[in-house]
Amino acid sequence: MLFRHASLISLLYLLRQGSASLFTDPTQVANKSYDFVIIGAGAAGSVLAHRLTEHSATNVLLVEAGRSNTDGPDVRDIQVPYFVVDIPPSFDWNYTTVPQKALQNRTLSYPRGYVLGGSTSTNFLFYTRGSSDEFDRLARISGDEGWSWKAMLPYILKASARLLPQLDMTLTLTAHRTTLTAHPTRPQTETLTPPADGHDTHGEVDPAVHGKTGPVLTSLSGNASVLDARVLQTTAELAAEFPFNLDMNSGNPLGVGWLQSTIGHGVRSSAATAFLAQDTLARRNLDVLIGTRVTRLVQTGRRGSSPVFLGVELAQSAAGARVQIQATKEVILSAGSIGTPQILMMSGIGDAGELAAHGIATVVDAPDVGKHMQDHPWVPLQWQVNTNDTLDSINRSPDLLNAAAEIYNATKQGVMANNPGGNQIGWFRLPRNSSVLREFGDASAGPSSPHFELTFGNSFLSFTQPVPAIGSFMSMCVALVAPTSRGSVKLASASAFDAPLIDPAFMQTPSDVATLTEAVKAAQRFAAAPAWADFVIKPFVAAVNTTTDAAIRAYIADQVATFRHPMGTARMSTSELDSGVVDSRLLVENAVGLRIVDASIFPHIFGAHLQAPVYAIAERASDLVKRAHGIPL
Ligand SMILES: *[C@@H]1O[C@H](CO)[C@@H](O)[C@H](O)[C@H]1NC(C)=O
Ligand SMILES: *[C@@H]1O[C@H](CO)[C@@H](O)[C@H](O)[C@H]1NC(C)=O
Ligand SMILES: *[C@@H]1O[C@H](CO)[C@@H](O)[C@H](O)[C@H]1NC(C)=O
Ligand SMILES: *[C@@H]1O[C@H](CO)[C@@H](O)[C@H](O)[C@H]1NC(C)=O
Ligand SMILES: *[C@@H]1O[C@H](CO)[C@@H](O)[C@H](O)[C@H]1NC(C)=O
Ligand SMILES: *[C@@H]1O[C@H](CO)[C@@H](O)[C@H](O)[C@H]1NC(C)=O
Ligand SMILES: *[C@@H]1O[C@H](CO)[C@@H](O)[C@H](O)[C@H]1NC(C)=O
Ligand SMILES: *[C@@H]1O[C@H](CO)[C@@H](O)[C@H](O)[C@H]1NC(C)=O
Repeated sequence: MLFRHASLISLLYLLRQGSASLFTDPTQVANKSYDFVIIGAGAAGSVLAHRLTEHSATNVLLVEAGRSNTDGPDVRDIQVPYFVVDIPPSFDWNYTTVPQKALQNRTLSYPRGYVLGGSTSTNFLFYTRGSSDEFDRLARISGDEGWSWKAMLPYILKASARLLPQLDMTLTLTAHRTTLTAHPTRPQTETLTPPADGHDTHGEVDPAVHGKTGPVLTSLSGNASVLDARVLQTTAELAAEFPFNLDMNSGNPLGVGWLQSTIGHGVRSSAATAFLAQDTLARRNLDVLIGTRVTRLVQTGRRGSSPVFLGVELAQSAAGARVQIQATKEVILSAGSIGTPQILMMSGIGDAGELAAHGIATVVDAPDVGKHMQDHPWVPLQWQVNTNDTLDSINRSPDLLNAAAEIYNATKQGVMANNPGGNQIGWFRLPRNSSVLREFGDASAGPSSPHFELTFGNSFLSFTQPVPAIGSFMSMCVALVAPTSRGSVKLASASAFDAPLIDPAFMQTPSDVATLTEAVKAAQRFAAAPAWADFVIKPFVAAVNTTTDAAIRAYIADQVATFRHPMGTARMSTSELDSGVVDSRLLVENAVGLRIVDASIFPHIFGAHLQAPVYAIAERASDLVKRAHGIPL
C-alpha cells in the first residue's frame, strides 16, 4: 500500500517536471513577484521553502549564497560520509574567528556550509535532538507553550502538510507511544533507515521515537568498529557514571548510546537532499537562486511607527549589479548565526553605535543583534591502542583507501558509508555534588540536559594536531555543551562580501573552564575502565595522563576547537531579558514583514548538535507562517 502511494507521488512529480527552477543569476528573477523571499538554503531555509510551496498558490524565492549540492566534479566530497573530516573549501565560507583571548590568542578555523543545504551539507552528520528540558526552557522563558517538548514533538517527528492522508493510517498503527501520536495525521520529517551494513539494530535504537516516512534520512553506524564492544562493556562496568541509553533522541539524552547520523543508504542526507530534491525544485511555485548574496534588506514603507522590510537587494560580487526583489507577504532570514546578524546590521537593524561606525543609518535600534553568540568548544584526547584495525590504517594506505572506495562505489557499504566520527557518543551531567555546580550554579537547561559530551572514534581525530605517522588510536572529543561564555558577530565593513568578525569567546568564563576540566577527567575515567585494560597502550597526550587541573587547563587553552554550533546572535525576547531581536513567533521586533528562522534565535545554546533542533524549529515556523497568512496547513 505504501509502495502504491509512493509511485503515485513519483508520477505526480514526473508530470510536474520540466519547470526546473534553479537560477544562477539574479536578473533571471528580477521582475517576478513572490509571496515569500527566504534568505539562506540551510537547515531552516530549505524546510521553509519546501513547506511553504506545498500549497501551489504560494510562491517562494529561496536565495543561497553558495553553490549547488549536486552539480560539479567534486560533489562526491559532500556525499560520502567518510569524507566529513575533509570537506573542500569550495563548499565553505572559509571563516576564521578573531583571536580567542582564553586560547592563547589563537584564531580558529570556523567552517560554515556554502552550498544548498548549508552546514547540513558539510557537517559531521550527527543527528541529536536535545533534551526535553531544552525545549521546555524555551517555552517557559518565551511564554509560548508551542516551543515545549510536548508541542514540538510533532515537528521533530512530523511536519505540517498533509500530502497523503493514507500515510496517516500507517503512522497511527506503527507509532507505539502515546506521546508520539499527538498529531498522528501528519507526514514526517525523518525516516530511520537501515544501517549501511544492514546489521540488526535491535537494542541500539528505539524505533518508536523515530519517523518512518520523512525526507531526512537517519541511520545507525554502518560499519562495526573495534571499539564497539568495549564502549558497551564500559557502560556496564561504570554504569553509575556512564549508563547505556537505548535512544538519546527520546527527550532524555543522558548516557552512552549508538550514534544516529543523517546518512541514508550510505549517502549524506542534508537539508538539500531532503527538502530541495528534484521533485521540490520542479514545483512551479518555487524559484531557487544560488551563488547570490543579500547585500541588504530594503525598507519598503512604514506601518504605524515600524519600518516595513519586504525588499531584498541581491548581488553576485562586491562590484556587481544590484537587483531588488520584493515579497508581498514576508522576508524570512535563515542565513544562520553568522549570516543573519550580518545581513540585519547591513540593513540598519542593530546596535546604533556599531552601525554608525560603518556609516550605516540605523532603522531599528536592536542592540542584541550579533550579541550573545554561543558555541560548543571541544578538545580532542587520544590513546594509542593495541590493534591495527582502526581507521588510521586505512587513512595511511592509498591501497586500502582505494579498496574501500571500490566497495563504496559498488555497494554504498563499508567504512566509507559510515560516520568516521564514531559509532557511539554520550551525554553527561556533572555529578550532583560537584563543586563546580556549587560554585557556579547549573548552566544546563534542566535535569535531563547534559553539561558535556564525549564521542568515541576509532582513529586519530583532531583539528589542532598533526596526525601521527605511525600507531593506531582511539580518540574522544570532549565537548562543553552547556557553556556560559557569550561572544559576538560584528561587521568588519558594510559589505556583504567581507566576512564579519566572529568571536565565539570560547572558555571565557571560570565555569566553562571548570566544567570542561571535569569533562576531561570524566573521559580519563571512561578510558580507565577494565574494558580498555588490554587495549590501550598509552595516552597520546600529556593531558590524558595528568590529574592536575592546571595541566588540563593548559591543554584546553592549547587545543580547543569549535563544534561549529553557533547560536544566539538574534535571540528571542524572553522573560529573562530586557530586549531580544525576535518575538516568540520569530518576527523581528519593531519591524514589519521580517521573520528570522535559524539557530540565531535561540536564547540559550542547545546541548545538542544543531541540525535536528533547527529542522524542528523550522517545521514549526512553517506552520506559524502559514497560519499568519491564511495558507492551509
Ligand atoms: C525588469 O524590468 C526592468 C524595468 O521594467 C527592465 O528594464 C528589465 O529588462 C527587466 N528585466 C528582466 C530580466 O526582464
Ligand atoms: C572558500 O575558498 C574556496 C577555495 O579558494 C573557494 O572556492 C570558495 O568560494 C571560498 N568561499 C567563499 C565564501 O568565498
Ligand atoms: C593576547 O593578545 C592581547 C592583546 O593583544 C595581549 O594583551 C595578550 O598578552 C595576548 N595573550 C597571549 C597569551 O599572547
Ligand atoms: C600491527 O602491524 C604491525 C606492522 O605490520 C605489526 O608489527 C604489529 O604486530 C601489528 N599489531 C597488531 C596488534 O596486530
Ligand atoms: C569511485 O567513484 C568516484 C565517482 O564516480 C570516482 O571518482 C572514483 O575514482 C571511484 N573510486 C574507485 C576506487 O573506483
Ligand atoms: C567495515 O567495512 C569494511 C569494508 O570497507 C570491512 O572490510 C570491515 O570488515 C568492516 N568492519 C567490520 C569491523 O566489520
Ligand atoms: C560526590 O559523591 C561521590 C559519591 O558519593 C564521592 O565519591 C565524591 O567524593 C563526592 N564529591 C564531592 C566533591 O563531594
Ligand atoms: C604518562 O604518564 C606515564 C607515567 O607517569 C609516563 O611514563 C608517560 O610518559 C606519560 N605519557 C605522556 C604522553 O605524557
